[in-house]
Amino acid sequence: MSNLNQAHPVMLITGTSQGIGKYLASYYLGKGYLVIGCSRQKSDITNSRYTHLIADISNENEILDVFKFIRKEHQRLDVLINNAAINPAIVTVSLLPYETIQKTFKVNVFAPILFCREAIKLMSRHKFGRIINIGSMATRHEVAGESIYTSTKSALNAFTRVLAKEVMSSGITANIVAPSAIDTELSKAINQEALTEVLNRNAIKTWGDFNDVSNSIDYLLKPESKTVTGQIIYLGGV
Ligand SMILES: NC(=O)c1ccc[n+]([C@@H]2O[C@H](COP(=O)([O-])OP(=O)(O)OC[C@H]3O[C@@H](n4cnc5c(N)ncnc54)[C@H](OP(=O)(O)O)[C@@H]3O)[C@@H](O)[C@H]2O)c1
Repeated sequence: MSNLNQAHPVMLITGTSQGIGKYLASYYLGKGYLVIGCSRQKSDITNSRYTHLIADISNENEILDVFKFIRKEHQRLDVLINNAAINPAIVTVSLLPYETIQKTFKVNVFAPILFCREAIKLMSRHKFGRIINIGSMATRHEVAGESIYTSTKSALNAFTRVLAKEVMSSGITANIVAPSAIDTELSKAINQEALTEVLNRNAIKTWGDFNDVSNSIDYLLKPESKTVTGQIIYLGGV
């Protein structure tokens, strides 16, 4: 058997309790996907094709438990969206606590790498897979005080581009979708003056929408997009 499960493709999204991840879960449920979401908090999504798993993705065992569930219940995975991330408060490098560096790298880099490692084992079985890692315009703007968040997203970019080369022969693509600013808890926590200043550097100076993200992902998910891999799609004219 090969290719996308046409009836109800199985999609795993990290960080679905709020923000972009919650939107994507609802959006792809609306398109007929079986969606598994995870986060530390509960989800209020109610849909018979949605399963929410409580998991702290900074812990490898909790990530492995997510895959145990998928192997047991679905035996396949068509799409992985590595969406969960944290953005620590703006701080200059000289004042950076080691704990902040560790925690941010665990959630924003180590976790998506582990999710990819486990996902490709399942996707390879059916010679089909779509991996979308959520990046950020931060890697282009390189804002002072955001060194750790920016470094984690740059590491994810590099990881994704190398991964794309490794998994192509298994029918799997891996790409980054990098939104500009979208109104969520994560962006609310950023200094709004600094955010406006950064948005003004983009071709599109207004805030982005959730559907900018799903529109790009829709394109990557299409079976016809099989040669689009290792790409970083920046939204907002960064
Ligand atoms: N919003 C923007 O302007 C913007 C711009 C560019 C890129 N992005 C990227 O878009 C993605 C989503 O961001 P967002 O704005 O939607 O953020 P958000 O509203 O803060 O949501 C983040 C999600 O990640 C989950 N999460 C955080 N730490 C976790 C952990 N240790 N274990 C499991 N889940 C965890 C949170 O759930 P729990 O707290 O329940 O665990 C939450 O569901 C991120 O990759 C972000 O970098 C956002």
